[in-house]
Amino acid sequence: MPNKVIVKDKINSFKKNILISGDKSLSIRWLLISSLAEGISTSKNLLMSEDVLATIKAIKKLGIQVKLKKKVCKVYGKGVEGYNYRKNLVINAENSGTLGRLILGLLINTSHPIKIVGDKSLSKRDFKRISDPLSKFGAKFKLKNKKNLPLTIYGSKNLKPIKYYEKRGSAQCKSAVIFAGMRTKGVTLIKAKKSRNHTEIMSKNLELPISIREKKNYDEIKVNKVKKIKVLNYNIPSDISSSAFFIVLTALSKKSELIIKNVNINYSRIGVITILKKMGVNIIFKNQRIYKGEKIADIKVKSPKNLKPINCPSALNSSAIDEFLVIFLVAAKANGVSVFKNLNELNQKESPRLKWGQKILKKIGIKTAVSNGSIKIFGNPKINLKKKITIKNYLKDHRVFMTSIIAALSFGGVWHIHDKNSIKTSFPSFLKIINELRNDA
Ligand code: S3P
Repeated sequence: MPNKVIVKDKINSFKKNILISGDKSLSIRWLLISSLAEGISTSKNLLMSEDVLATIKAIKKLGIQVKLKKKVCKVYGKGVEGYNYRKNLVINAENSGTLGRLILGLLINTSHPIKIVGDKSLSKRDFKRISDPLSKFGAKFKLKNKKNLPLTIYGSKNLKPIKYYEKRGSAQCKSAVIFAGMRTKGVTLIKAKKSRNHTEIMSKNLELPISIREKKNYDEIKVNKVKKIKVLNYNIPSDISSSAFFIVLTALSKKSELIIKNVNINYSRIGVITILKKMGVNIIFKNQRIYKGEKIADIKVKSPKNLKPINCPSALNSSAIDEFLVIFLVAAKANGVSVFKNLNELNQKESPRLKWGQKILKKIGIKTAVSNGSIKIFGNPKINLKKKITIKNYLKDHRVFMTSIIAALSFGGVWHIHDKNSIKTSFPSFLKIINELRNDA
């Protein structure tokens, strides 16, 4: 099977209801937390992607039984001390920063060194941001080049609680420290710039010893040692980050309408919605409800007549961090100059995404100016491409692939987009849903 997709035609108008697969952040967190619960936790609609399957393999290596049948998953937790820390354990986090980083918090008390490895992309990413705070608890680390994978964690039996200030707005750093705090006697204090708060919500839902005080720009979190975790049965809602590709496709199409059912619209994840609404896209939430502390809704999107440029408030960065590549496409078609600032973190993702955003925009003939983590995008409402465009060598970053497909369907031209398998990381059914929309048109 060729691992390249060729897109030759723009998509026509569509009107459809679609269902997107389960949320990646919630799927990984559910597996990790359930792996330490006392008893059998069951989830429905677990995301069947490589990042999530890597998490299943990781907890199995730690001696936890997992059974998976279709999208129903059972984790046989053996309590908070239930991991089997064998000698010479190697955990492969593959492409997943969330797995590679969060699991380190749980492994902080390991009695044998554990090696964490990852794929080419993950091996380029910063793990010092995790080993630094976790070292303060008393664990030790050996990292390649002092900051990368492979790394080895040497746990400690004498963990001490820490005070930690998370300044990047990274939920992965915050969550790893929360997990380590749950293994440590005494109060761990975290001051964290706002970022996705699924770990906190799941922990609260399980009545774990965690308290959160929400301030305007940051949260104060207190965590204490966890003695017992109850089983957690969970019906995982759909992923807004995966939905974003289809929301943008609708925003860039003419006379189209889409309803995406049962999506997690936690406020810490909906920056993309706020940004697109400011740009003139008609989006509403229907059937809003709360499920185990998470806000869920059906999202209805309609193609706008015109797209306005945006001077994007940096306060939205963390809540839209995984969506900027595809948001840049909307700015490309807007009538004027858009500005996005303080986005250095984008270059810390599966590929340097600020660079890739700029590259894709250049390929579609859109002028950009990048400096110091900011990007200016000179929009053109009349983009209509005829040329051949090739997208390759992007470290198999799933979001570069999917953004390129959306660009191809929206702006025309003949696109040769390599590394189709990258979608398996987060959204294996992406192309199937694209084809459903094409056939509907
Ligand atoms: C995630 C947090 C974000 C995000 C990633 C998933 C999570 O990363 O980019 O895709 O599930 O906690 P950072 O915490 O590094 O910003």
